[in-house]
Amino acid sequence: MRPEPFALERYFARYEFSAPHLLSSSDCDGLPMAEVLAMGDDECRGLWRALTLGYTESLGLPQLRAEIARLYETVGPDEVLTGAPEELIYIAMIALLSPGDHVVCTFPAYQSLHQVAETIGCEVTRWVPREEEGWRLHPADLEASLRTDTRMVVVNAPHNPTGALPPRADWDAITGLVAAHGARLFCDEMYRGLELDPGARLPAAADAVEGAISLSGMSKVYGMAGTRIGWLAVRDEEARGSLAAMKDYTTICSSAPSEVLALIGLRNGAALIARHLARAERNLAALDGFFARRADLFTWVRPRAGTICLPRILADDISAEALALRSVEEAGIMLAPATLFGLDDRHVRIGFGRENLPAVLKRFEEFVAAAYRPR
Ligand SMILES: Cc1ncc(COP(=O)(O)O)c(C=O)c1O
Repeated sequence: MRPEPFALERYFARYEFSAPHLLSSSDCDGLPMAEVLAMGDDECRGLWRALTLGYTESLGLPQLRAEIARLYETVGPDEVLTGAPEELIYIAMIALLSPGDHVVCTFPAYQSLHQVAETIGCEVTRWVPREEEGWRLHPADLEASLRTDTRMVVVNAPHNPTGALPPRADWDAITGLVAAHGARLFCDEMYRGLELDPGARLPAAADAVEGAISLSGMSKVYGMAGTRIGWLAVRDEEARGSLAAMKDYTTICSSAPSEVLALIGLRNGAALIARHLARAERNLAALDGFFARRADLFTWVRPRAGTICLPRILADDISAEALALRSVEEAGIMLAPATLFGLDDRHVRIGFGRENLPAVLKRFEEFVAAAYRPR
C-alpha cells in the first residue's frame, strides 16, 4: 500500500526552511521551550525532573489523558489515545476502513484525510464547501452524498484550508445526518479552540455522537507542533481497541519529554489560546486592509476560526501556482497554491497565526505592486 505523495507536505519540505518569509503556515509560532518549562506547575516540574527516557504508556501519559479528557463533556481519560496527529489520521483510516467502503470527506482537505482511504481502496465522495456561501459545508450536499453503505464521514472543522466553521444549526444537521445513517463520524478538530467568536465553538464530535471520533492536538491551537502530540477522543470501546492495536505498528508510544511538555501546555491552555486569538485578530485586521486595497486582484471569505484562509485570485491571467512561484523566487515569500489541495489554480492559502504576519504581508504587498499592475 503506497499513498500518493502528500503534495502540501512535499511543498513545505521544499520551502518551509529555505524561504525567508512564510505566508502560508497553518500553525501559531512555536513556543520557546524555556517558556513552556517556566509555565509548569509543581507536579509538571516534578515529572520533568524525574523523567527517564524509556518507553511510555501506549495510550499516553495518564495525567496527560486526564487533562485531554477535560476538554470534552463525555470523554473519560481511558477513552483517549495519544499520538502524532498525522499518525492518528493514518491509524484511524487503516484500522477502521476496508477496501470497497464508501467514505464521504470534506474536500479540499488536509490530504491524508481522504488519501489514506483512497489508497486502501475505499470509494471516496468529496464534499466540497460552497464558496459563494462563505465556504459553507452544506448539510444538503452531505445528505446527497450519503449512501446506505457509507461507512465513514470525515469532516474537518474549523476547516483547513478555508477557515470555515459551520454555524451551530448546520453542525447539528450534519451530526444528525451521520448518526441517522449509522456511519462513523471522524472529525478533524485540530483548529478547534481558535474560534474568533468563542461562542461559535461547536460541540466536539466525540461528545455529539456516540460512535464519533474527534482528532485534536497541540500543533495549531497551542503552538506546540514540535511536541508531535495529538489525540483521538473515542468513546466506542471496540474502535478504541482497533486504534490502539494499530499504533503498535507506528510509534508504539509517544515521546516521553513531549508528553510532559504537552501536559504543561494544556494546563495553561486558556492563556495560550487567548494569546493566539489576539494575534490572529490583529493579523486579520492587517489582511482586511490588504484585501480592501487590492480588491482588484483578490477576494476572500473572512475566516471564522483557525489560522488560515483561502483567498481567490480575480485576474484570469494570474494562476495561483504562478503567483506562488514568483512570490517565493522573487521576494522569498512562501504561499501555498490551492493546487496542492487538488482544488484549483485560482486560490492561495494564507496563514495568519504568526507574529510576523504584518511585516511579511507588507513585503508581499510591495511584491504584488511591483509584479502586477493595478487592474
Ligand atoms: C487539518 C489538519 N489535520 C491534521 C494535521 C496534522 O497535524 P500535525 O502536523 O501536527 O501532525 C494538520 C496539519 O497541518 C491539519 O492542518
